This record gives sequence, C-alpha cells and structure tokens, in this order.
Amino acid sequence: MHSRLLPALLGLALLAAPAAAQDVIKIGEFASMTGANASFGRQSHNGTQLAIDEINAAGGVLGRRLQLILEDDQSTAGQAATAVQKLIAQDKVVALLGEVASSKSLEGAPIAQRNKIPMISPASTNPKVTETGDYIFRVCFIDPFQGTVMAKYALSKGWKKIAVLTDVKQDYSVGLAEFFVKYYTANGGTIVRDQKYSSGDKEFRAQITSIKGAAPDAVFVPGYYGEVALIGKQARLLGLNVPLLGGDGWVGESLLPVAAGALDGSFFSAHFSTDDTRPAVQDFVRKYRAKYNSTPDDMAALGYDSAMILAEAIKRAGGTDSAKLRDAIAATKNHAGITGVITLDAQRNAAKSAVILTINQGGFKFQETVAP
Ligand code: PHE
Repeated sequence: MHSRLLPALLGLALLAAPAAAQDVIKIGEFASMTGANASFGRQSHNGTQLAIDEINAAGGVLGRRLQLILEDDQSTAGQAATAVQKLIAQDKVVALLGEVASSKSLEGAPIAQRNKIPMISPASTNPKVTETGDYIFRVCFIDPFQGTVMAKYALSKGWKKIAVLTDVKQDYSVGLAEFFVKYYTANGGTIVRDQKYSSGDKEFRAQITSIKGAAPDAVFVPGYYGEVALIGKQARLLGLNVPLLGGDGWVGESLLPVAAGALDGSFFSAHFSTDDTRPAVQDFVRKYRAKYNSTPDDMAALGYDSAMILAEAIKRAGGTDSAKLRDAIAATKNHAGITGVITLDAQRNAAKSAVILTINQGGFKFQETVAP
C-alpha cells in the first residue's frame, strides 16, 4: 500500500459511514507521470482524480468509496506491462484506467484481457488497442477517423503535395500516418516525401532538408509534442516555412513554449477545446483550474470522462463482478461527457467529433468541429 494512502484510510475507518476500508472499490490507473511524456500522465491523472473526488464527495458508488491507485510507467517501454501486472496481482483492482499513448495501452491491454479486468483507455486512438479483446474499451475516437479528418482538411485547403514525417517508435504515429495517406492519396493528393524519426531524437535536419527538396505544400507530422516542437523549430531554421499538420499527439504542456512561435500557422486535430462554450466544458475548465492551478487539456478531459463512465457502469452492474462490469461498460450509451456524447459501439470504441485547432501567437485557436 502507498504510505500516503494510509492516513486517509485510517481516517475513513474512524468514520462510521459510508465506507469501511474493506468496502473501498479499487481502481487502477497507469500513466506516464515522469519521462518524455509526463504531460500526458499529469493531465490524464488530474482529470481522472477530479472525477473520482467528485464521485466520493457525492457518497461514492453503491455506498462505497472509490480508491484510485496510480502506477507511473515512466514513459518507458516495458513499464506499462509491469504497472498493469502489479495493479491486478497485488492491488487487486476491479478495473483499469489508462493509458494515453497507444504503445503503452497495447502493453497493458493483453494483461488486462487475460485476467478479465476491464480496461478503459482515455486517449489511445490506435485501432489495435480495443482489438486486443472484449475487456478493452476507450472513450475517444480512433485514428482511421482522425487521419481522414486531417487529410480532408489538407485537401480542402488546396494542398495537393504533402510530405510525411513519422515516429517509427510509436504505434500511434505509424498508424495515423497510414490512415492519413490512405485517404489523401485516394482523393487526389500526392505524398512527395516519406521520412522517419524515433521518439527521443533531437536532430531532424536530415529529414527536413530532404522534405524541403520535395517542395511540399504542407508536412504531416503525426508525432508527440516533444519531438514536434523541435521539428517545428528546426524546419523554420532551415527555411521550410509551409504549415505543419498533426494529430492529438501534439497536445502537451511544453509544445508551445519550446516551439516558441515556430508552429504558428500550423494545424492539428484533437478531442477538446477550452474555447468550447458548452456549460459542462466551461464548468470542467473552472473546476480543474481551481484544483490544479493550470488549464486542462484533452487528456484531462478524457481522463475525467473515462472515470465517470467506469463509475456509472459499476452502479449499473450493481457491483464489481468482472463479467457484469464488462457488460455494463459495453452498454454505455449517450454519456454526456466533457469531450462530447459518448456511446460505445460493438468494437468498444467511441464515435465522436474531432476538433481542428490552429496555432496562433503562442496559443491554440479553435477552427472547426468535424463530426464522424
Ligand atoms: N492519441 C494518442 C495515442 O494514441 C495519445 C494522445 C491523446 C495524445 C490525446 C495527446 C492527446 O497515442
């Protein structure tokens, strides 16, 4: 047990109601709290914890308190599997929330499936994640949709020649590039260069020089924020001044500070915008800021939605029996989430709108919403 949980549990045990320590419902969360993608973990965990705290403040689920047990997978290959093993075998969690990065969810999912522990990924968009098996769910859209959204957008802008720069270490990046190219080339676009890099790279000059030589109208960079910020900077330094295009992986706390203006005029697709005027969104933004003194991003909103959907499912299942809980999650319909209305389909995915954002004077600006 985490030592910091001990005082909380002791405190609880002293209260007569509603829940003695043994009545707590344990939920496991695995996230990249440290390392290259720590922004993903911080945000998704904060959003998830906000939901859990609200549920507990309102009396818990079925009169029982929810306990979120967090494991840090350190943004490191292999650690998500270790985290999920531990949460299932040692902590005996009844369900799992995680991960953001698709490669990490793909490490955890087979273990959850084998143990019949329902897992809900807040933000992993690669199709293979939920294809792992019938205990694996997600509350976000998938990359065949996201890739199509950005390919259509590029074509609508009249960009007929595009170069692609893919992170070969991430299932997310490889998949999103593939779905983008498929729609784009089937609808009149031409890929004029196809370049690769690996997560953790800091030098992109060779790829950028090659891309510049092909004179594209834009460059599709379906990567994560850390590398994308450096790619944007180095592209401008080398005189490649066309717009960069990307997906949800661009969202990260260090993207704009590191890019320092280099990504102005670029576009990407995402799940959520703080410009969304729906009262539920504005209420969430306000609560998140009050609690964490920072602005929530996509992962925070998706983390919140994933925890709320799990809590509702436990309520509908009448308990935590794993088969019943699986069926209850699968039956999720019209959940009014922060990231939109969530209905899980037969493939355990959510068909939802994407937003397209642009970067302008160091901020994200909402462009449009694209329905599935
Ligand atoms: N969709 C990304 C993946 O599958 C993760 C991500 C989601 C990143 C939302 C940022 C925002 O790896």
